Amino acid sequence: MDILIMKIGGSIQDKLPESFYKTIAHLQQTKKCYPVIVHGGGPMINDLLKKLDIPTTFINGLRVTTTEVLQVVEMVLSGSINNEIVTQCQIQQLQAIGLSGIDHGLLKVKPVQTTEAIGFVGEVTEVNTAFLMELLENNIIPVISPIGMDEMGQHYNINGDMAASAIAKALGGKLAFISNVPGVMKRKKNELKIYSSLTKGEAEQQIKDEIITDGMIPKVRSAIGSLSIQMKQAVILNGLEPEDIASYLKGNQVGTKFVYKEEAAYV
Ligand SMILES: Nc1ncnc2c1ncn2[C@@H]1O[C@H](COP(=O)(O)OP(=O)(O)OP(=O)(O)O)[C@@H](O)[C@H]1O
Ligand SMILES: [Mg+2]
Repeated sequence: MDILIMKIGGSIQDKLPESFYKTIAHLQQTKKCYPVIVHGGGPMINDLLKKLDIPTTFINGLRVTTTEVLQVVEMVLSGSINNEIVTQCQIQQLQAIGLSGIDHGLLKVKPVQTTEAIGFVGEVTEVNTAFLMELLENNIIPVISPIGMDEMGQHYNINGDMAASAIAKALGGKLAFISNVPGVMKRKKNELKIYSSLTKGEAEQQIKDEIITDGMIPKVRSAIGSLSIQMKQAVILNGLEPEDIASYLKGNQVGTKFVYKEEAAYV
C-alpha cells in the first residue's frame, strides 16, 4: 500500500469542505493508502503579522524570517493550524497526531542558501522516517507543521511545500499538493489554460517568463525535486474538489502532474 503525502496549503485549509476529510477517511479505511498530512499557513501568518504590525517580505516565494517573524510563524503553524487539522480528522473518526518537525527530531534542517539574507528559513536534511512508519503502521495519521531544528536547537521556518517534498522523498509513495488553484495555469487572452503535466525544463522556463510566480515557485520546484525512482509522481490538486484526490489515485488526469523520467532532465 502506497503512502500518500498530502500538503494542505494555508491558502485552502480553512475552506476545505468536510468531504475532503471524508475522502481521506475513505482512502485509509479501504486501505488505498497511508495518508500523511503536511500543512502550510501563509495567509493566517500574514494576518497575524499584520495585526502585530510586523512587516513581512518574500524572496522567490519564501518568507524572510527574522526571530520576530519566526515566533509568529510557529504560533500560527504549530499552535493554531495544526490543531485545527487534527480536529477535523478526529471529527471524521480518523486517528491523527499533530507534530511539528521539532517533535522526536522529525525534521532536521540547515539554513537555505540564498543570495540575499533570508533569516531562519530551513531546508530539510534528515527525516525521522522510522517514527513516521511506526505511526502509519498503527493507522495514525501524522499531521506535520513545517518547523525544523538544527543541531544547536535553533528553530527554522520551512516552506510547507519543501517540507512535504522532503518527507515524501524520505518515505517514498505519492505526493499531492492541495492548493487553492486547479494546477499550474497560464492566462491566455481571456482563457485560463491548466497544464496537465510539466517537465523540469518547462517549469523553469515559466518561472523565467513569470507565468509561475509567488508561492507557485517553491511548489513546482518541490514537486520536481521530490521525483526519483522511488517517488515517481507528484501532483498539484484543487482542495475545493476533494473527489479529485480519489480520481488521481485511480490514475485519472486531474491537476498538474510531474512525472519522473529516468533518462530525462530531472536528475
Ligand atoms: N502559473 C500559476 N498557476 C497557478 N497559480 C499560480 C501561478 N503563479 C502563481 N500562482 C499563485 O500560487 C498560489 C498558490 O501558492 P501559495 O503558496 O499561495 O498557496 P499554498 O502553497 O497552497 O498555501 P501556503 O503557502 O500557505 O501553504 C496561487 O493561489 C496563485 O496565486
Ligand atoms: Mg505556498
